[in-house]
Amino acid sequence: MSDIASLGDLRGKRVLVRSDLNVPLAEQADGTRVITDDGRIRASVPTIKALLEGGARVIVCAHLGRPKGAPEERYSLKPVVGRLGELLGTPVTFATDTVGESAQGAVAAMGDGDVVLLENLRFNPGETAKTDEERAAFADALAGLADAYVSDGFGVVHRKQASVYDVATRLPSAMGGLVAAEVEVLRRLTVDPERPYAVVLGGAKVADKLAVIDNLLGKADRLLIGGGMLFTFLAAQGHEVGKSLLDVDSIEVCKDYLARAAETGVEIVLPVDIVCGKEFSADTETAVVRADAIPADMMGLDIGPESAAIYAGKLADARTVFWNGPMGAFEMAPFAAGTKAVAQALVDATAAGALTVVGGGDSAAAVRLLGFADDQFGHISTGGGASLEYLEGKDLPGISILAG
Ligand code: 3PG
Repeated sequence: MSDIASLGDLRGKRVLVRSDLNVPLAEQADGTRVITDDGRIRASVPTIKALLEGGARVIVCAHLGRPKGAPEERYSLKPVVGRLGELLGTPVTFATDTVGESAQGAVAAMGDGDVVLLENLRFNPGETAKTDEERAAFADALAGLADAYVSDGFGVVHRKQASVYDVATRLPSAMGGLVAAEVEVLRRLTVDPERPYAVVLGGAKVADKLAVIDNLLGKADRLLIGGGMLFTFLAAQGHEVGKSLLDVDSIEVCKDYLARAAETGVEIVLPVDIVCGKEFSADTETAVVRADAIPADMMGLDIGPESAAIYAGKLADARTVFWNGPMGAFEMAPFAAGTKAVAQALVDATAAGALTVVGGGDSAAAVRLLGFADDQFGHISTGGGASLEYLEGKDLPGISILAG
């Protein structure tokens, strides 16, 4: 696949870069929004810098959140401009629209080595529209801003969207360094991973993870389950889960996975104890209970200490580890220990020479929030859904279009 060198001499060229700048923001008392984890901005910087060093005029485009095709202040990319400029070491001009007067004016005024950031692509309905025809006019307008295109938003390569897919059919295109690096690491997880290969899956929604579990049952040696999704597995084993998250529609599939795992020798590891709370709140009454005895008036909000130790043990001798999704409601101190223990186990496995990959915006933000540094892990992926779909073996439109 072509890298940015394939675009030739960049001097004087306007290069549209699709980055993933979808960072978590927190609203302060005065209403301003601040970035709580700038990992995705930092990950986007090397490709933009490389283009600038080549003399290009770089037009960065990205999305934030899921607005519904029209401008909404809370989804504006404005809070990102300052941090991007700081990390690049050069001022960034912000266009207050995507392909309108502001964007066109800002691009027309660019000199070599300048950077423009367009407003949230998803303020235009053409970005996420379902059909090629509906996306065409927006893709044409975006492509019209530039002479070349670089795909560097790994977190969105699983989306068939105008800025990810259609623009690549309209301009000379290349793969950015971030996408190339992510694909290389994920390839190592899928092609002959060093064993034992352990996968830790957490997060709230079991339905989002079913396809990847299905696929991993044939590939991983151990599957450690935590987070809100674990209660559907406990229910599949016939246990009561009280007020915990439960996806009734997925119980049968989970039963099937447990049976298949037993047949194929893949170890599915479920917690033996659970930290419960009366309510979903940091100052609620808590109790550590056996996983098969969750009280009817409580909800499970983290794996328990005995389970955390078991999970750490299952990761200690692993040679390859992929982790997606927190073990509990880690944002609240009483329910953070399980996620912290798994993060520490990955750090230890990394130090012992294993390839460890943390996948997904939430997990990446979790490890940083809990005080871990990026370089304590083998790789922290910027893509949540994208890395899962890669592991599911699905076609990723944003990558296959570059190959085609
Ligand atoms: C992510 O947060 O995983 C990426 O930025 C993609 O966002 P999306 O799921 O809204 O497409």
